[in-house]
Order: sequence, then structure tokens, then C-alpha cells
Amino acid sequence: MSDFTSEFWHLYVAGLTVVSIIACLILLWISGTTKVNASSDNTTGHVWDEDLREMNNPLPRWWIYLFILTCVFGFVYAALYPTLGKFQGTLNWSSAGQHTDEVKKAVDSTAPLYAKFNGQPPEQLAGDAQAMAVGERLFMNNCAQCHGSDARGSKGFPNLADADWLWGGAPDAIKTTLNEGRQGVMPPMAAAVGSAEDVRNLAQYVLSLSGSPHDSIQASLGKSKFGACAACHGMDGKGNTAMGAPNLTDAVWLHGWGADAIIKMVNEGKHNVMPAQKGKLSDEQIHVLTAYVWGLSNKPAAK
Ligand code: HEC
Ligand code: HEC
Repeated sequence: MSDFTSEFWHLYVAGLTVVSIIACLILLWISGTTKVNASSDNTTGHVWDEDLREMNNPLPRWWIYLFILTCVFGFVYAALYPTLGKFQGTLNWSSAGQHTDEVKKAVDSTAPLYAKFNGQPPEQLAGDAQAMAVGERLFMNNCAQCHGSDARGSKGFPNLADADWLWGGAPDAIKTTLNEGRQGVMPPMAAAVGSAEDVRNLAQYVLSLSGSPHDSIQASLGKSKFGACAACHGMDGKGNTAMGAPNLTDAVWLHGWGADAIIKMVNEGKHNVMPAQKGKLSDEQIHVLTAYVWGLSNKPAAK
């Protein structure tokens, strides 16, 4: 409890707590000792609904003892645990501390397992059923929200279970992707291409690269405009893993297939982010995840 902005609030909270418990005890004591001037029939004199009367009996003993016990418990609890403002309690307990202890216990108990995994290259680790079970759980907790529980992705989020890679599918490339994250940036290119008509023609040419249905006249007109794209996507349109530029000659479309989707990409560009996992996950966990992702589209090496 170190979040108090001033000494005043610490004293205010602590004081209010102590005074409230003491006030309860005083109330108990007063009500136990004062005699209400009972009329002879032992009622308070109040009458409801014509004949419903309130008796003036003392509180039952067991109830009073329970009440006192509750107050005593309050004091003992306040002495042991953080209750009174920023006073930490004599046990020095905190929920954050308990959480840290439990995390440490979990990390300690899995350390030997991760050490064993870490000693194997990803290609081999991908054949270890126990490691892949751990990898799958890590994937479900940290990656599935974006890449899908089957790792097949969706629009804007790449499929990790196929052989098509933006940034490269070798274990080292995957590990770099996980550690550092990736920023796929395509600037808006319409100005560099020319008129809206030029963009439409270029889109037909891009479609022709993958053998998709296209207008061949428009495509041949658009071909000369592809120079503006070649710096990233390559003259042949096969992409470049150094900058995460996708292959435009295959049937895999991260941002949607068809002329409209391509025109939109050229006009608006795209900034797509894979968040860095270093710091969030341990080196050992990233090692297991690298093997898991690699194993989704490759056959593990024999032991
Ligand atoms: C917030 C969403 C998000 C989360 C969480 C996320 N990713 Fe990604 N990931 C992306 C996006 C978006 C890309 C594409 C980046 C780009 O377009 O260049 C990507 C790209 C990748 C790539 C590169 C794919 C390629 O074709 O080169 C790999 C590998 C990857 N993610 C694995 C993971 C793993 C493993 C996790 C869990 C630890 C994870 N991602 C968590 C959004 C996410
Ligand atoms: C500065 C580099 C760069 C240039 C120049 C560039 N692109 Fe891109 N392009 C990218 C990147 C990076 C992506 C992937 C964006 C992402 O990660 O989501 C991309 C994605 C695309 C896509 C989506 C592919 C898919 O799978 O959905 C299309 C289509 C595309 N570019 C077409 C073009 C065309 C046409 C041009 C030329 C007018 C062009 N790009 C110029 C970097 C570039």
C-alpha cells in the first residue's frame, strides 16, 4: 500500500478503520448497560398494525460474544495484514508479492524442462511431442488471438501453417520475427504510379503475375508502371523477405484477392505490425515457439 498521495489519506484511512471498530464496541457496551425505561409489560411501547409490539429483551449472549469476536478479529487482522492505510502489517504480505512468489515457483518448476528444450535445434525440437504440446499452449495464449487457433491467420494476419513467408521461414528468421517483431510497411503509391486509370491497369498486371483472371490489354498497359513496385516486390514480383514485401505471383493474398483489393493497397498503402515478444516471453519460450511455428509447415529432423 504505497499508493497514497499524501500522509493525510494514510492517516485518514487508518484512523477511520480503528475508530469504526472501537465505535462498534462502545455501541455494544452502551446498549448492553443502559436500561430502556421499560413499562411493566416489558415492551418498548411501540405498536404496529394494531397489535404488533416490540419487546425490550436484552441481546442474546451468543450474539454479543460473536460481535466482540468479530471486533477482536478485526484488530488482529489489521495488525497482521495491510489494512490500516499504508501500514504493511507485521506479516509483510502483499498480493503482488504472493503473485511474484507463485510465478517464481512456476518458473522454477518448468526450468529443467525448458533447459532440455533449449539444448535442441528447432528442427529437431519440432519432433518432440512434449515440446510441441508446450508450444501449442504458448501459441494459444500469446498468438492465437491474431493468427487464429489453427495458425492459419485471417485478412491482414499471415497464415503461419503454409510455406509462404513475408519475412522468411527458416528457424533463424522466425526467431528474429518473434524477438524483434516486424513492421510491414507499404507506402501509398498512387502518386508514383500516375492516374487512376494507370492504377487500374497496374492492378490487372499484378493479377496476371499470379495467373489470376485479368484483362490482358489493361495488364499490358499496366506492365510499365510496375517499376514503381519493383524496389520492394522485385522486378519479377516474387517479393523480398528483407522488407517483408509479399510475393505477388502466388495465390496467397494477405490483404484480399482481386483488382479492388490491389487498387486499395496502391492508393492507401499499409502499415502492418507484428508485436515484439522479447521481454514478454522468455528466451526459452521463444525457442519453443520458433520450433512450433517452423514445425507447422516443415517435417522435423530425425533425432
Ligand atoms: C497483435 C497481433 C499479433 C500477435 C499477438 C502476434 N502476431 Fe505474429 N504477426 C502479426 C501480424 C500483423 C504479422 C504480419 C506482419 C507484416 O505484415 O509484416 C505477423 C507476422 C508473424 C510472423 C511472420 C510471418 C511471415 O510470413 O513471415 C510470424 C512467424 C509470427 N507473426 C508469429 C507469431 C507468434 C509465434 C506469435 C505469438 C508469440 C505472434 N505472431 C503474435 C500479428 C500478431
Ligand atoms: C516500400 C516498399 C514497397 C513498395 C514500393 C510497394 N510495396 Fe506493395 N507491399 C509492401 C509490403 C511491405 C507489403 C506487405 C504489407 C503488410 O505487411 O501487410 C505490401 C503489400 C502489397 C500487396 C498486398 C499483397 C497481399 O498478399 O495481399 C499488394 C497487392 C501490393 N503490395 C502491391 C504493390 C504495388 C502494385 C506496388 C507498386 C505500385 C507496390 N506494392 C509497391 C511493400 C511495398
